[in-house]
Amino acid sequence: MEPLVSKHTSQKVRKAVFPVGGLGTRFLPATKSMPKEMLPIVDMPLIHYAFEEARAAGIEQFIFVTGRNKHAIEDHFDHAYELQTQLTAKNKAKELKQTSDWLPEAGNVSFTRQQEPRGLGHAVWCARHLIGDEPFAVILADDMVFTKKGCMTQMVEAQKKSGGNVLGVMDVPREKTSSYGIVDIDKKAKSKDARLVKAKGLVEKPAPEDAPSTLSIIGRYILQPEIFGILDKQKPGAGGEIQLTDAIAKMIKTDDVFGYRFDGVRYDCGSLVGFVAANVAYALDRKEITGTMTKELQGVFKRAGIKL
Ligand code: UTP
Repeated sequence: MEPLVSKHTSQKVRKAVFPVGGLGTRFLPATKSMPKEMLPIVDMPLIHYAFEEARAAGIEQFIFVTGRNKHAIEDHFDHAYELQTQLTAKNKAKELKQTSDWLPEAGNVSFTRQQEPRGLGHAVWCARHLIGDEPFAVILADDMVFTKKGCMTQMVEAQKKSGGNVLGVMDVPREKTSSYGIVDIDKKAKSKDARLVKAKGLVEKPAPEDAPSTLSIIGRYILQPEIFGILDKQKPGAGGEIQLTDAIAKMIKTDDVFGYRFDGVRYDCGSLVGFVAANVAYALDRKEITGTMTKELQGVFKRAGIKL
């Protein structure tokens, strides 16, 4: 029986890449002059949740791959002196904390620019000089995982034991495989951790009848720096974009790639329905508004003639 431990053992995952260079066309006109990653879930932007998830997982350096129209993200991770001065003058201590208490230490945030949105693989490749020669995390802010223990924390803990590359995965209904990258599971490789599987292949958006499994990749990755050598030569794939999944699929030949079935509910906040559903779920989780929110929702359903 093959043990699920890679030749790349426990080098700490210290850096995270946040690709935020996409156009966000599914949210037009909202994203005409505002980055998709700044859309709020209740009262916090998507990118802020992603940042907090990374920080909770022990990440020390936060690398944003931005594009045109993304200045608001840089401003979000900086002081807002004018606002802070006014809040101080008005003795608004709580609000002041919300603007700046959580900021990462100066020098721990970097921004690099993807001059053209050529795909997720290309966005990650743009961070190569900032990552250097060490394993790193990738978090897509528009994939949210609602859970007590952060998805990236779970993955970092798993990767500490397995080493190698670890992808956040979840089972989807078979009829939906054509919307995801799907893992071809190496069934011979057994793990003590029931959540960990070894990949022998990845298939981008297979038709349900061709899908090797229903285990789909979501926007959470821990990757070894060898991925950059593959991305150097990666040709455009689906949608004419340089796909990260294609590059990871190539890496399976030379390196271990695992899938980690994280604990939690994933919301695809890059889609309209997922985004609205996440807002409802996160609002209902806020104790101070759970009661009023529930009543509001009941009223909304009643007025729309929907029985639950
Ligand atoms: P999406 O596939 O959701 O693409 O990207 P998008 O452009 O943001 O949105 P739509 O499909 O036009 O509505 C997933 C993540 O990868 C980033 C996006 O910013 C988003 O966070 N991304 C995508 C890049 O950084 N660069 C790219 O070239 C493409």
